[in-house]
Amino acid sequence: MEKQGLRCRRLVLVPCPLQGHINPMLQLGSILHSKGFSITVAHTQFNSPNTCNHPDFVFLPLLSDDSSSARNDSDDFVVFLSSLNLKYKASLQELFTRIVEEQERHEGLPCIIYDALMYSVEEVAHSLKLPSIILGTSSAISWLAYFAYPRLREEGYIPSQGSKSMGLVPGLHPLRFKDLPLYDCKNEDRILELTATLRNIGTSSAIVWNSIDCLEQSSLSQLQQQFRVPNFSIGPMQKMAPTSSSSLWEEDHSCITWLDKQTENSVIYVSFGSLATLDEKELAEIAWGLANCKQPFLWVLRSDSVHGSNSADSLSDDFKETVGERGCIVNWACQEQVLAHRAVGGFFTHCGWNSTIESISEGVPMICSPILHDQRVNSRYISHVWRVGIELENGLEREEIEKAIKRLMVEKEGEEFRQRAANLKLKAELCIQKDGSSYNSLNKLVELIMSV
Ligand code: UDX
Repeated sequence: MEKQGLRCRRLVLVPCPLQGHINPMLQLGSILHSKGFSITVAHTQFNSPNTCNHPDFVFLPLLSDDSSSARNDSDDFVVFLSSLNLKYKASLQELFTRIVEEQERHEGLPCIIYDALMYSVEEVAHSLKLPSIILGTSSAISWLAYFAYPRLREEGYIPSQGSKSMGLVPGLHPLRFKDLPLYDCKNEDRILELTATLRNIGTSSAIVWNSIDCLEQSSLSQLQQQFRVPNFSIGPMQKMAPTSSSSLWEEDHSCITWLDKQTENSVIYVSFGSLATLDEKELAEIAWGLANCKQPFLWVLRSDSVHGSNSADSLSDDFKETVGERGCIVNWACQEQVLAHRAVGGFFTHCGWNSTIESISEGVPMICSPILHDQRVNSRYISHVWRVGIELENGLEREEIEKAIKRLMVEKEGEEFRQRAANLKLKAELCIQKDGSSYNSLNKLVELIMSV
């Protein structure tokens, strides 16, 4: 494809302002920029991306209807999303109108690519006759699990508390009821409403899934059957074009110097992503699991990880003395670099979808401790479908953590996990090479964008 010819076609990206959503959206932006498109990012001022890291993109801020920060509105995710979609609608309308007016005639209409969670974008784009494409940032299987809820309810399988929790979900094996994203959710009805909103893709022309055929072929085909527009699975995105960091926190690169001093595959990397919070007891259980396992560890402990206190201050002196130089604790790491480091032999993770894909792309086996929603689904697939990780079955408990780390890092069984992870890494690499599934999907996406 002639890059120069495309450069004038503008794509306007609208990410959802959360770390796990900004990363794949800006990665997709870098991939499409490498294909010759010009990239504009329409972003909220809340969790605004670091514009300096992306000099090739144009960043345009969206202004909210009221001055309160979107995040402080509510701890409830559904309320957060509906407020987000409502607050920025007028600004989106104004911004898209301005972009269309300023567009040179030869440039053609911009195409909008928006995060599925920013569902109000479709209506605004449609009102201005702008083509739009959706980006789904979570795993295909987690979308299927959400979409299966109305059926499961109609068939009387849910609510499914108590004894049924370990039972397999009809039509979603090997997921158990306890793995479903809404299991133990208090506002199921409102999440179902949200799911129905997300499922209604309106006039959008296509869906891009942040996934890889070699991981989720069957789930991706099922999604393609559910939506009448073309679906493209493109990943691992961070490997498909050079991308700069989109971190909302400052990355502490001193952990790489610390990793350089460790032996190959000896370090367990611990991170629970950008959203999860812990209570003091869970923090202590993780800390003592790490202290007692005797392996070196690199632990990302965001200062806001623990309710009501600065996380690092909550660690006891006894713990700090016990681990000494064996542990490195940072507020935020350069995760992709960490997972690619030869010293890292395992990832103790909350199974956020980005972390999952990044770990698989580097052949690093996992210990899974999902905290919310889609993470439970991902955890089940990591441990029981791709078999590249061990799931902690009883929550965060020090003896179980210690045992799991030893199984993965020291015992013979760990070698089998590592071998399967290495195989999966190779398969993922093939997907992005010429004629691989992601390579082909990307080319088809480019053709589609040029045609809409
Ligand atoms: C959440 C959900 O858990 C996830 O499944 C959904 O798809 C997006 O929202 P989050 O908790 O942020 O995501 O986890 P994850 O999806 O793993 O994304 C975290 C991102 O932050 C990853 O790309 C990771 O590389 C990055 N990260 C994390 C860092 O750069 N440094 C860190 O120290 C920790």
